[in-house]
Amino acid sequence: MNSYLNTHKTMSELCPRQLTSNFQRVNVGHSHDEAVILHTSEQRELDLIQLPHVQAVIYTPHTLPAWITGLGVAVRSGTFQIDRTILSCVTREMIEAWLEASISANMPSHAVRLAFQEDVLNLVDRCAALTGASHFYFRAMTDVPNRNCGYHVDTVPRRLPPWGLLRVYCGPGTEYVEPRNVISMSEFYRYLSKRNRYIRHLHEAPQEDDVGHAQILAALADLDEIPSFLHQPYERYVVPAGSIVALTHINIELHWSDHAMGLAWIHRSPMEGERRLLVSVTARQSGALRYGTLK
Ligand SMILES: [Fe+2]
Repeated sequence: MNSYLNTHKTMSELCPRQLTSNFQRVNVGHSHDEAVILHTSEQRELDLIQLPHVQAVIYTPHTLPAWITGLGVAVRSGTFQIDRTILSCVTREMIEAWLEASISANMPSHAVRLAFQEDVLNLVDRCAALTGASHFYFRAMTDVPNRNCGYHVDTVPRRLPPWGLLRVYCGPGTEYVEPRNVISMSEFYRYLSKRNRYIRHLHEAPQEDDVGHAQILAALADLDEIPSFLHQPYERYVVPAGSIVALTHINIELHWSDHAMGLAWIHRSPMEGERRLLVSVTARQSGALRYGTLK
C-alpha cells in the first residue's frame, strides 16, 4: 500500500505521461485537476516530484528525531542563528566546508550540530540524485516571519532541473494552496504583479510619509489576507514542522505566462510566528562560483 495521505492514486494514474528527458517539462495544458500536491511518510517518495503534474511532494516523518527538538529550542531562544546565506553555485564539498565554518558553537550540543550538518548534506545528496547535478544553489537562514514574501513560485534558469528541496526544521512552516483552489495561473500572476507593485511603492515612499506607508501596508495586508487568485481565499495549508518538501520550480522563460499548474508550486513564507530555521537546495550548472552572505 502506498503512503499517500491525501491522494489515493495508483502509480499508473499518477503517470499519465512519460517523464521527459533533459529536464524539459512539458506544458501539460491548463487543466486544474492534473496538478497535485502529494503527501507521504516515505522519504524515498520525494522522487515523485519528477512526475509532470506534481507541484510538490511533502514528506512528513511519523516522529521527528530528538535533535530537531533540541535545535528548535536553540532557534526559538535566538541562541543559535544563521545569517541569511545564499551560496549560488557550489559543490557538496563546498557546502560541507561552509557548514563546518559557519555553524556556531551555540548549538545545544555537539551531537545536535553533527546531526544537523549530516541532515543538510543528506538534502544535498538527495538533490544530486534527483537531478544529476554536481553544483547547487543553496540557502540557509534563521528568520523571524515577516510580510516581505507573499505567494510566489520559485524560478529556475532554462535547461536546469526544475526541482528543489526545502526543509523548515523548526518554527512556522511554509504556507501553500491546493491547485484545485487556484482560479488560473494568469489570475495568480495578476495578483503577484499587483503585490510586487505595492512592495515597490513601499520602498519608494518617503520615510517621513507615515500615512502613505500605512496605506500601502493596509493594502498589502488585504492582498495577503484575501488572495484574489483563489476560489476559496481562506483555504490555505501549512507544511508540518520538520517536513521535507520536494518542489517544482518554473522555468524562468515561462514565469508570468499562463502555464500549466503542474509546473510550479504556489507557496509563501509564514508571515507571523516564532523564529524559524530553513534550508533549501536546488540544482545549478557548474560555472563561475559566487559566494554571498546577505545581511
Ligand atoms: Fe519560494
